[in-house]
Amino acid sequence: MALDLERIEKHCRSHTKVREWVREIMMFDRVDSTNRIALEMASQGLPGGIVILAEAQEKGKGRLGREWFSPEGMNLYFSLLLRPYQPARDFPLYSLATSVALIEAIQRTTGLAVQIKWPNDVVLEDKKLAGILLESEVRGEQSPSLVVGVGVNVNIGLTDFPAELQKSATSLRIALGRPVDRADLLIELFNQLVEQYRLVDDKALLIQAVRQHCQTLGRRVRVQTARQEFEGWAEDLQEDGALLIRMGDGNQRRILVGDVTYLREVKDPSAHGRSTPA
Ligand code: BTN
Repeated sequence: MALDLERIEKHCRSHTKVREWVREIMMFDRVDSTNRIALEMASQGLPGGIVILAEAQEKGKGRLGREWFSPEGMNLYFSLLLRPYQPARDFPLYSLATSVALIEAIQRTTGLAVQIKWPNDVVLEDKKLAGILLESEVRGEQSPSLVVGVGVNVNIGLTDFPAELQKSATSLRIALGRPVDRADLLIELFNQLVEQYRLVDDKALLIQAVRQHCQTLGRRVRVQTARQEFEGWAEDLQEDGALLIRMGDGNQRRILVGDVTYLREVKDPSAHGRSTPA
């Protein structure tokens, strides 16, 4: 079913808090990448509050230079252009707030208990359901821009995914066994984004919300950063969203950007929520 843009716009117009963040929605049938278009608008000096929404992307961008699979008419792909007043070092907090908003919106719309895999993947039983890509640009006199790109696998079927994604990705429809109305989900997501973006000014509260939903904490992980790979226990999150890893020698390492793989583990019943390697 086509996305009911009229209903989405009506909701944004009639809810003051949502209207402050989402002032205009531009919908496209097919684009290369909604993030690219939003970044271009940012560079032209357009104000925050513009959403670029597309039914399909030909070059959807994922984290770490990957591609985001974006077939037509099944899922949600959008980018929200913001001009935050916070310093650029706090921009990653918008990514955390977006992941909490996704968790809440999905839970409220479908009842599914989804979780966050650090740093901001939204997963269901360890399979990826949604992703967030933040891109920002600082230009001359203009206030810095931040583009929050969100992709949610809503109604895609398992065999619609390319073979290499079929083991690691899922969708709401696959999990529920029925399609989900994308407009309902997007409306709830806008409501939740507005709620969670208020927490960007209250880091402790935001991190507490992320901790509650983060399935990575307490697990044994392999971490891949741009420069190295290592293993340890994912122990905690810091206020800037960094993951603290306890290494085998007892030292802690702090990771701000990277990818995490879960390692096989055996729960140690004498440890509180802590596991030991197999
Ligand atoms: C990830 O790799 O987890 C991030 C995926 C982000 C995908 C979304 S889809 C809408 C927006 N436009 C893009 O090109 N990418 C993001």
